[in-house]
Order: sequence, then C-alpha cells, then structure tokens
Amino acid sequence: MKAIEIKKGVYWVGGIDWDLRNFHGYLTQRGSTYNSYLIIDEKITLIDNVKHYLAEEQLKRISEIIDPGKIDFVIQNHIEMDHSGSLPKIMELNPDAKIFASPKGVEGLPKHYKQKWNFQVVKSGDMLDLGKRKLHFVQTPMVHWPDNMVTYCPEEKILFSNDAFGQHIASSERFDDEFPFNIMMQEAAKYYANIVLPYSSQVQKALEAVSGLDIKTICPSHGLILRNHISEILKNYQKWSANQTDKKALIIYDTMWGSTRKIAYAIQEAFESRGYENRLLNLQSTHISDIMTEILSAKYICIGSPTLNNNILPTVASMLTYLKGLAPRNRFGLAFGSYGWGGQSVDIIEQILEECGFELLDQIRLQYIPDEEVLDELRKNLENQIQ
Ligand code: FEO
Repeated sequence: MKAIEIKKGVYWVGGIDWDLRNFHGYLTQRGSTYNSYLIIDEKITLIDNVKHYLAEEQLKRISEIIDPGKIDFVIQNHIEMDHSGSLPKIMELNPDAKIFASPKGVEGLPKHYKQKWNFQVVKSGDMLDLGKRKLHFVQTPMVHWPDNMVTYCPEEKILFSNDAFGQHIASSERFDDEFPFNIMMQEAAKYYANIVLPYSSQVQKALEAVSGLDIKTICPSHGLILRNHISEILKNYQKWSANQTDKKALIIYDTMWGSTRKIAYAIQEAFESRGYENRLLNLQSTHISDIMTEILSAKYICIGSPTLNNNILPTVASMLTYLKGLAPRNRFGLAFGSYGWGGQSVDIIEQILEECGFELLDQIRLQYIPDEEVLDELRKNLENQIQ
C-alpha cells in the first residue's frame, strides 16, 4: 500500500502489521497498524513512528513523497516502542532533526535508545510553527503511559491522538467510512477495555482538555483514521471512561466435571428471567482479552471455578489477575463454584472480586453434582438479589 493523503500535504506513512496476533497478552485477531503522519510544510514534520520491524515500510512510504533525509521535526507523542521503534532509522537519516516530546517523553526516549538526539520539551499550551500550519500540544498522561500527549493542527482541524481512539485493525482501508462501522467500534471497545480502562479518570481529563477543539479528523496511532464517526467514538469514550454499564451480566467460568458449568447455566437463567442481556463465557474457549471487551459494558461479573488443589483453576486465576489489573469500577461481583471437599475456590474468587471494588452478591458454593432442586433454589435466591 502506498502513502495516503489525508488532507492536502498531510499523509499517512505508517506500517501495517498484518501478522500481529498478540500484543502483550491481548489477542489481536485482526492485526494492527502503527500510524505515522507526514506534514509537508516549510518545516517537514513527522508525527509518531512505527514498530522497529516496519521501519523500511515507513521509509518507503515517506520516500514516495519526499527524500526521507529531509525531515526537520519529529513529534513523538508517545515513547512506547510500537510508536518509536523506527526512530533510530529516522534519526540516522536526519541527525539534526528536532524531536518534540513531553517532559516524560524527553526523559524516557534516551533511556530507550541511548542517543543524544536534539530533544525539545513541549507541554500543554505550547505551539510549534511549521510555516503554513501550527501544531498545539496537549499532555494526556497515562493515556497510555506517563509521557503521552496529543497534537492538534487547527489549520487542518486534525487531532493526532496517538493511543487514544485506536483500534488494533490491519486493513487496506485507512478511513472509518471505508470500513464496517460495527467491527471498527468493537475493536475500539476491545482496545479501550484491554489497554486504556485502568486510566479512565485520566481519559476523562483528556476528553475535557480536547473538548474545546474543532476536530474534523482524528488520526490515532493504531487502526483507522476517523473522519465520519467522531461523535460516536467520543460518546463511547465518555461512557467507557465513566464506567457506565448496560443491563448485562457475564458468567465467566471453567469446569472440571461439569458441576460448575451447571451452576453457571442456573445463574444465566436467573439473569435471563430478570431481563438481562447475558453471556456464558467458558475460559476454555474464550480468550481473556475478548472477555474484557464484554466486561466493558457489563454490570454483573460472575466468576466460577471448582476447587483444585485447595485453589482455583489456572484459567480462572489468569482471568482474575487480568481483571484486577484493568480495574473496571461500578460493577457487581458474584463468586461461584463446585467442590468435592475443601471448597476453597469460591472464597479465593470472592476475595479478588472484593479487591476489585465490586459490590458482592451472596456467593454460591455447591458440593459434588448439584441436582435440579438445589439449582432451582439458587435461581430464586439470585433473582431476588439482582437489581
Ligand atoms: Fe500503542 Fe502505548 O502504545
């Protein structure tokens, strides 16, 4: 694919990672892109870079427009290596280029690349004159690392948002109006749930900081460029960052001999009878990063495991560790499971749900194989607790 002109003189020159299936534990079934943008002005400016192994691809795209050794300014909105990996190649060709980054960015880049490049610190409110255009910087710490910032070009009404509003999608299409909307939004939700969710309060601050800007195009650092669905993505980011949920319950479990599954199905029926959208998610067949996407909009999180070796199944432990780290708030939690003797699993799950800050429903712990009578009682008790 060639470089793509977004606006006159503003180009996408990123890299497409068709093969990526794992982004530090997050299953990226659709691959990803690392978006880099080139502005042709009196000062030739490159905004963000790509993963190291796509550097040649980025350089080839830049070469279609200009000599890649003619770059004056590099804006590094974020130092994480998916957006800075090709920086050494760019700087090899442009040793005198100025690199603009936030204070934490300028602190972090030499610790990654061990180079004394010409770093320039920029902060919220600072402006950089390119000639015909200007760039304004807004620091957005923790969206996704402490160094993050976004860059706004008022002449083009473009927000270069880096990780914010990204989606892990590799595609031949570059713009949101060329791609199925539901898939794009599903991937944006998955990205938020697996990358951005712990920093929701900082997202709210970032949304407030950019709310006064006249934005016609959002150029994120992953996935599709948004020019047609800006209000929808902003609305969803407001909802997700406020931890607003839907009338939806998840029953997440693993099972040894099918008893915990029986409990899971009884729980599902209780939510169904109370009119809740629900999902039964067996950890043997559903990846934890896909479950997190569902958690983004779910009010009730029910997690079940049988007791194994006085503990929980490793699949359930993995889910709970991931869940706790991603820190959703304003949820209800329910621990359940079957046991033969001992029966520690339910308390272990409940403790972690409590540490997550969830409001707890009465735990469900049943020995050996529950019969219909017991499951009926379980359903009735649970229906009475569901709000
Ligand atoms: Fe896409 Fe925080 O890097």
